[in-house]
Amino acid sequence: MEIKKIGIVGAGQMGSGIAEVAVGSGFDVLMRDVTMEAVQKGRMRIVTDFDKRVQKGKMTTSEKEEILQKLSTTIKLEDLGKCDFIIEAAVENIPLKWEIFKKLNEVTPRETILASNTSSISITRIASITQRPDRVIGMHFFNPAPVMKLIEIIRGLVTSDETFRITRELSLKMGKTPLEASDFPGFISSRLIFSFMNEGIYTLYEGLGKAEDIDAIMKMGANHPMGPLELADLVGLDTVLSVMSVLQEAFGDKYRPCPLLTKYVEAGYLGVKTGRGFYSYGEKR
Ligand SMILES: NC(=O)c1ccc[n+]([C@@H]2O[C@H](COP(=O)([O-])OP(=O)(O)OC[C@H]3O[C@@H](n4cnc5c(N)ncnc54)[C@H](O)[C@@H]3O)[C@@H](O)[C@H]2O)c1
Repeated sequence: MEIKKIGIVGAGQMGSGIAEVAVGSGFDVLMRDVTMEAVQKGRMRIVTDFDKRVQKGKMTTSEKEEILQKLSTTIKLEDLGKCDFIIEAAVENIPLKWEIFKKLNEVTPRETILASNTSSISITRIASITQRPDRVIGMHFFNPAPVMKLIEIIRGLVTSDETFRITRELSLKMGKTPLEASDFPGFISSRLIFSFMNEGIYTLYEGLGKAEDIDAIMKMGANHPMGPLELADLVGLDTVLSVMSVLQEAFGDKYRPCPLLTKYVEAGYLGVKTGRGFYSYGEKR
């Protein structure tokens, strides 16, 4: 099975980042979101990134234009019917992912692999809504997708060896390093990284220090590239809350989302993407 065309569901920071990686690796890409505005915003993010590469002399204008010709967008999920491999990167919400996978199962041929970029939801659980759980897999990119090298690959209970092999090979073709994790909520990466962010938010909530100091202590003391609060702002506080809720449901109160995190999400302070989280970022991105 040769993969030529990749469908991406969701044009947010991860969907557009994954689309950028895929199109830059030579694949035709069709990126879908629910509104024209979201699709355009995702496309602009990709164009801006390629413009920066041209400015830095890493590619020519004609190379950029050739790559961008391979990127198309839509707001209709059924348009993804002709894609060979689909990567879902819509918001972290179980009923929504079920709705998307149910529809993808209807509009694509049975052999099409349906991958999810979920940060935390069990792949077995997502796959259960489809009639092809053997062709469903977790393909977990990291943020920002064009920069981060890792793809965590997660097999659901009945994901086939072939699906795993094709997904692994695709990851390598995208210039990434695939590593496998078992299908438990949060896998390996999110269970550790999101606990770190949530605990960092608790230290702020409990008055242990100012946001800047909490981040600086973890950067200087543990050699982390980003502190927990700035990382949470980058990931998106809505996503952090969703992931912690999945972990809490699966493993108990050890993973209870910090009340301050809940309050920020309720206020619409979602981090970099809304211009305000634990820090202020001026204009919305
Ligand atoms: N943010 C991160 O650091 C990160 C890292 C790895 C994985 N993830 C996962 O990637 C997924 C997306 O996260 P994000 O950070 O890109 O969120 P985001 O909020 O930036 O983007 C989500 C996008 O999904 C769109 N959407 C909602 N319903 C849709 C539908 N039915 N069909 C298509 N698009 C729909 C929204 O309009 C929005 O554009 C989540 O599952 C998240 O857990 C996030």
